Amino acid sequence: MERSLRRDREAMGHRHRKAGLPAAVVGALLLAACAPMGSGDGQTTMRLSLNQAENHPSFIALDNWSTYMAENSEEVRIDVFPNETLGAQAEALQLVSTGIADMAIVSGTQLENLNEDFLVFNMPRVFDDVEHQMQVIHDPQITGELYASLEESNNITVLGGFTQGARSVYSTEGPVHTPEDLDGDKIRVQESELNVAMAQALGGAGTPMAFGELYTGLQSGVVDAAENNEVSYYTQGHYEVAPYWSYTNHLVGLDYLIINTEVLNSLSDAERAVFEEGWAATHVEHAELWGELTEEAIAGAEAGGAAFNEVDEAAFDDALGGLAEDFITTPTQQELYDAARAAAQPSGSGDE
Ligand code: GCU
Repeated sequence: MERSLRRDREAMGHRHRKAGLPAAVVGALLLAACAPMGSGDGQTTMRLSLNQAENHPSFIALDNWSTYMAENSEEVRIDVFPNETLGAQAEALQLVSTGIADMAIVSGTQLENLNEDFLVFNMPRVFDDVEHQMQVIHDPQITGELYASLEESNNITVLGGFTQGARSVYSTEGPVHTPEDLDGDKIRVQESELNVAMAQALGGAGTPMAFGELYTGLQSGVVDAAENNEVSYYTQGHYEVAPYWSYTNHLVGLDYLIINTEVLNSLSDAERAVFEEGWAATHVEHAELWGELTEEAIAGAEAGGAAFNEVDEAAFDDALGGLAEDFITTPTQQELYDAARAAAQPSGSGDE
C-alpha cells in the first residue's frame, strides 16, 4: 500500500486536559458549518472529534490519516480535534448528526443508545481478542446493515472502528480479586444500560459519567473505581488517583468511526476511494500500535506507582455469564452475536 505513515508520536506520557466546548470553538464550528461543502478553493475540511489525548493510538493513527489525505486527495482534508475539545462523546454524536462536525470516534455504548442492536458488540465475552474483534467489525457481511442503520434516523454512517482493547477494573481503594471486593463501590461506567448492569455483575454499583470527568471523579471520591484499558488508564493519568489495577478483562471494548451521511455521500467516487483507502490503512495501523502502546502504558503507570494484579477469573466469568441472556433479546441481536462468535478461532487453536 502506498502510504507513508508518519510515526512521529511523542514518548508516551499522560497529559491532563480539560474537556468542554469553549464558546469560540462552537462559534468557529458553526460558521464553518454554514459554508457550503467544497466551496472556495475546492477543498473540504472534515472536522473529526476525539476524546483521547495526542499520545493515544487513536489520535496518532487519525493524525496520520489526516497527513495521508493532504498528500493524496485533491479535495478532502481531515482536522482531528482531540481531548474532547468539541465536547464529550454524547455531544459529538449530536454534532455529527446535525453536520456541525463531520466525523467522530465514539464508543459502541453511545451507538447502543440509538440502536440497541449495537449493544451486541459491547457485550462481555463476544470478542475473544483484538484480532477477532477487528475481523468481525470490518466484515461487511456481518456489519453492513448495522452500520447503515442510523442513516435515515440520525444522518450517521458507521465506517468501522478501533479496538479499545481488553477492559479491566481499577480502584482507588485497593486490589480487587473477586466480585465481593467491589461490594459497595461506585464504579464509573460509560453511559449505557448494559454497562450499568455490567458494573453490578462485577460486584459494584454503576455510575455513568463522561470520560473527561473521570479523573476528577476518582480524585474527589465521587466514584471509587472505573474500568478501561491500560492505554487510557495511563494517557488520562487515572493511575495517579486510582493506583490499583485488577485484570478482570471483562470485555474487549470497541470504538466506531462515524461520519455525517450527507457529507459521505457528497464525495465524488474518486475522493471517496482515497478516503476509504486511507481509513482502511488507519484502522490497520491502530491495531498494530495497540499492543505496543499497551506495553508502554503499563510500564509508565507502574513507574508512576500503579500496581497490577490478577483476579479470580472463574468468579468473574460466573458473574458476567447472565448478561447475554438479559440483553440479547431480538432475532437481529442474536444473529449478530452468532455471526461474531462464529468468526472466533476454535478454542485450542491458540490462546490469544
Ligand atoms: C475508552 C474508549 C473511549 C471511551 C472511554 C470511556 O478509552 O476508547 O472511546 O470514551 O473508554 O470509558 O468512556
